[in-house]
Amino acid sequence: MKGIILAGGLGTRLRPMTLVTNKHLLPVYDRPMVYYPIECLVNAGINEVLIVTGGEHAGDFFKLLRNGKDLGLKHLEYAYQEGEGGIADALKLAEDFADGGKICVILGDNIIEKNINHAVDDFRKQEKGAKVLLKKVEDPHRFGVAEFNADGTIKTIIEKPKNPPSDMAVTGFYMYDGRVFDICNTLKPSGRGELEITDVNNDYLARGELTWANLDGWWTDAGTVPSLLRATNLVAETGANNT
Ligand code: G1P
Repeated sequence: MKGIILAGGLGTRLRPMTLVTNKHLLPVYDRPMVYYPIECLVNAGINEVLIVTGGEHAGDFFKLLRNGKDLGLKHLEYAYQEGEGGIADALKLAEDFADGGKICVILGDNIIEKNINHAVDDFRKQEKGAKVLLKKVEDPHRFGVAEFNADGTIKTIIEKPKNPPSDMAVTGFYMYDGRVFDICNTLKPSGRGELEITDVNNDYLARGELTWANLDGWWTDAGTVPSLLRATNLVAETGANNT
């Protein structure tokens, strides 16, 4: 399976820092933010990775990561996203890289305590479809949130709901089969003018092909000042991507 790290966006919630660099290159404790999703993929046995980024600081990724060997990657590619079309729009740029195979997609500002290799191995065995990782949170309105059927399967996913149907957030770790790009190409922009990854997941759900697993250990995004501080403190306390 190949890995894709989505590391674009303007990082407006982290200005002024993001006026001079990309959000994913800011420090989280002792490393640049983008190191964490790379380590996460490498720990799950994925060493062919594409980083999708954009904006005027895109070249800094190349300076920092070069060919990725120091971080355990066998192959590192870069793609450049024009404009701000949303997560599913950024993902479209990975179609050639994926080459019809299964992919593990990680949002570049998502950081976790533990290894996700069990979920990745389960998806390797899953015949088709997609898999998402959920985590119980205190502030579900900030995320995509799962609504459940009585049998524990997901009924639907709602992006940033005002009245969350549960406290289970959809984290930024997604696994897809090769049809994900056909789905991305059918999407229409949401109210915030973006192609939403939640719409991709709901499409798989409608086909009965979306599975989910609980994410063990802590999980945080790092795209706002409070969450960046939280991420730094959590990494300082326990480290990240632990086996
Ligand atoms: C994005 C997704 C959301 C998901 C979150 C995880 O939100 O749209 O469904 O729960 O990442 O970090 P955004 O970072 O665009 O606010």
